Amino acid sequence: FAPVVVAVDGPAGSGKSSVSRAAARALGFAYQDTGAAYRAFALHAADSGVDLTDPVAVIGTLGTFEYEIGTDPDDHYVRVGGRDVTDEIRTPRVTASVANVSKIPEVRAYLVDLFRQVIASTRRPGIVTEGRDITTVVAPEAPARILLTASEEARMARRSAEVTGQSAEETARQLAHRDQQDSKVVDFMTAADGVTTLDSTDLDFDQTVSAVVELVRQAA
Ligand code: C5P
Repeated sequence: FAPVVVAVDGPAGSGKSSVSRAAARALGFAYQDTGAAYRAFALHAADSGVDLTDPVAVIGTLGTFEYEIGTDPDDHYVRVGGRDVTDEIRTPRVTASVANVSKIPEVRAYLVDLFRQVIASTRRPGIVTEGRDITTVVAPEAPARILLTASEEARMARRSAEVTGQSAEETARQLAHRDQQDSKVVDFMTAADGVTTLDSTDLDFDQTVSAVVELVRQAA
């Protein structure tokens, strides 16, 4: 038996994590947040004491990366070396450092393999997997492939409502910088062939989740 794979890509602040998780819950599917793995690995490499701008040193820490992720949409934990890092990987320090590791091809190849193992081992009827290159690299054969977008304005507004302790301008600046760095590595701003673009600019959260669920029902 092979689970139905739902691939969701999109930029920062598009709401793809919360939308993907809610869609997984509605469908009775598992949920995989691949950004969490890049974040967890950035944390691991930093904690290993290597210079994150030194790719060879960073690659050297892959061998000791023990990563566990909860794929139940209602119990989504991330552990590194047995330690719970669910909250720590969301800190601005980690967010600002992920691009250093996610741009390294060897790191991507290692994590892509891991993502496919998680997909293959799911015991639910399907799995919603979200990130930047799921529709194109991780699961290009998925029956449902969605690019979740929103205008830059909407993304900035959503993100600054989430982030506390800094100005909206600072949040907007960081978001734009991260998208710019990330888009040099994978193109998640334009839909690849066969990928459905879902623009959530004028949709509220529930409407966006329903639209994803509807696309999955049509495809499965
Ligand atoms: O989705 P999230 O914002 O948590 O992702 C954190 C970082 O992980 C991104 O900024 C990007 O550098 C990297 N990433 C990636 N490919 C993915 C998912 C995330 O390069 N599929």
